[in-house]
Amino acid sequence: MNLKGRDFLKLLDFTPEEIIYLIDLAAELKDKKKKGIPMDDFRGKNVALIFEKTSTRTRCSFEVAAHDLGMGTTYLDPSGSQIGKKESIADTARVLASMFEGIEYRGYGQEIVEELAKYSKVPVWNGLTNEFHPTQMLADMLTIREHFGRLKGIKLAYMGDARYNMGNSYMVCCAKLGLDFVACTNKKYFPDEKLVETCKEIAKETGATITLTEDAFEGTKGADVVCTDVWVSMGEPDEIWEERIRDLSPYQVNTAIMDNAGKDAIFLHCLPAFHDLKTKIGAEIQKKFGIEEMEVTDEVFESERSLVFEEAENRMHTIKAVMAATL
Ligand code: CP
Ligand code: NVA
Repeated sequence: MNLKGRDFLKLLDFTPEEIIYLIDLAAELKDKKKKGIPMDDFRGKNVALIFEKTSTRTRCSFEVAAHDLGMGTTYLDPSGSQIGKKESIADTARVLASMFEGIEYRGYGQEIVEELAKYSKVPVWNGLTNEFHPTQMLADMLTIREHFGRLKGIKLAYMGDARYNMGNSYMVCCAKLGLDFVACTNKKYFPDEKLVETCKEIAKETGATITLTEDAFEGTKGADVVCTDVWVSMGEPDEIWEERIRDLSPYQVNTAIMDNAGKDAIFLHCLPAFHDLKTKIGAEIQKKFGIEEMEVTDEVFESERSLVFEEAENRMHTIKAVMAATL
């Protein structure tokens, strides 16, 4: 398997074998890290990390992974560069590609990261766009495989906003790797019909299934994995909280939902999550709408079925695999 020089923009661009290769490589790099085996074969290389939206996990994963591999990093924060304001993406791509061996981009439309890759002669990695979050998928799949020992035939039920980066990415990833994907949400939040069709076509080859339902109990019945995401994503206006709370409250992951899932079911969330009042937004929402938990209850989040922190750790190992494979 040779992925040298490839961009990592969305999982639709990769074969199932290539995706599994990245997950296998991540598992191998994780094992090496735990054993303290050095892996700094990329000494002398540097990567640029562009973040037009904020981040904890993705930024830290790219930085730690790059440093473990022996590389230097430069972080460009949402306000600290010329990107998009004084300089086009095409020009930025050519400037950065002349100094760095790889470029990570987190921001808004998928077309921006695609444009960056088009003009960059070095690999570009998608650290989240409105449409896709592909590095998150590798971490989730590694976490699921570590727990169940397999991916094919696993039933993954996704609750909440299924037409944004996390919902889209789960659907594509499950289609590619032969999982049974169920989106449980109000039909306003069903994924884009064209993307659903594409995934159903892929599923025919891999044995995956794609189901969309408004019935949270039917959708999560017997699921191996129940996952969700925030109800309002980065870049969306604050005004939509009210509508989202109304539309998506029936799709909250709570103990009744987890009990309805398979008896060994696990809970995943890309994080950050609103499960208590210990955040500024959580407290504001409580004051305004009187609710104390949103997409997941604190009880589920803190339960043994929740593997969210294992999942977060796996961000670093999988992002390291993406860089090591493509550089
Ligand atoms: N899951 C995830 O992408 O987290 P950050 O926004 O903290 O990077
Ligand atoms: N849907 C969320 C994912 C955060 C990792 C967002 O875009 O804000």
